[in-house]
Amino acid sequence: MHNFEGQTVLLTGGAGYIGSHTALVLAQWGAKVVVVDNFCNSAPESIRRVEEITQKTIPCLELDVRDQAGLEEVMTEHKPVAVIHFAGLKAVGESVEKPQLYFEVNFGSTSALCGAMQNCGVKNLIFSSSATVYGDLNQPPLTETMSTPMDRVANPYGLSKLVIEQMLKWQQRANSDWSVTLLRYFNPVGAHPSGKIGEDPQGDPNNLMPRVTRVALGIIDTLHVFGTDYPETDDGSPSRDYIHVMDLAEGHAAALAEMLKDGRPPALKTYNLGSGKATTVLELLAAFEEATGQKVKREIHPRREGDLPVSFADPSLANKELNWKTQRSIVEMCRDAWNWQQQNPNGYRA
Ligand code: NAD
Ligand code: UFG
Repeated sequence: MHNFEGQTVLLTGGAGYIGSHTALVLAQWGAKVVVVDNFCNSAPESIRRVEEITQKTIPCLELDVRDQAGLEEVMTEHKPVAVIHFAGLKAVGESVEKPQLYFEVNFGSTSALCGAMQNCGVKNLIFSSSATVYGDLNQPPLTETMSTPMDRVANPYGLSKLVIEQMLKWQQRANSDWSVTLLRYFNPVGAHPSGKIGEDPQGDPNNLMPRVTRVALGIIDTLHVFGTDYPETDDGSPSRDYIHVMDLAEGHAAALAEMLKDGRPPALKTYNLGSGKATTVLELLAAFEEATGQKVKREIHPRREGDLPVSFADPSLANKELNWKTQRSIVEMCRDAWNWQQQNPNGYRA
């Protein structure tokens, strides 16, 4: 636990899945949290519930992060010591169909944010990057020093994360009094144990856990398991490094605490946030059934195009430098995801 008493932190995209859990952790640990979001993939209700849980007031302002003048107004009023930049589009399939939209929103928002920070003298930035930047070239465990060539990234979403990482490296180099931390998330799942906040994908979800909870609830008939013929895993289904969203939220708090530590020289840092463990699709389904007592109806389907057989982090740099590591098991991830889904079958919509 860290103490952020008296420090204001601005969260772009803070009403979303990871942002709302991070807002909760930071508020509980004393920070004054301010959220800006255009609610294109979320609702202000998530932050209202964070306020209910934490008993703290969290201003939640409707703003498109591409609006630099609007951001400057917010920064002038609230004087954040740091920004955590979650805002962006994240649907892999949509990015293949509409690459220009992903470049416009993901680059555009980051560029406007950097401009506003420069004009307002805000010098600390944490960016939501992704394990997707490792592409298909590197063999897990994936470490931060591995090379990340652009032509090995599978889709425009991943490319937007990789290019933004490079943009921010140059930005930090040109502003040597800035601290920038790039956090490469692995596969976030789960929800706050209260079941009041969680993942609320708009429309038909693509990711595994929201599909599993919807099958268990009967909203989706059958889970399609995309491939059980991968020679790289024991049961033939692909494996991923699933991370409980509360562990991920605490990872942001740890990165922020390190960044704001007295006497720490400004720097650009990159950390994997993952558990270091790989879990296959079939293992996750078994854990879900154990945690919830629900059967998950499934069918084996061909591999999904673009999927890696195995992906997991080497999280040792974050373990050491941020004094952070994941605490919560796969069973807890399943239990909390199910708790949230059961209590909120329609997400934040009543
Ligand atoms: P999310 O969609 O729930 O949250 C993103 C938030 O940003 C939403 O509230 C959305 O309304 C907002 N937003 C989007 N464009 C905006 C804009 N132009 N102006 C203002 N707000 C805008 O997604 P999430 O899962 O919470 O992801 C947060 C960040 O982490 C994203 O940048 C995402 O790419 C990254 N990430 C997510 C995952 C994952 O699997 N969830 C993995 C790796 C990285
Ligand atoms: N899967 C199924 N059935 C489904 C959905 C998924 O079998 O209905 C399998 C996939 O084949 C994969 C695993 O479950 O093996 C996880 O799939 P997700 O879609 O949940 O996650 P990915 O690892 O494919 O992608 C995630 C994020 C991306 C990010 C990527 C790399 O969703 O944004 O991790 O970090 F780019």
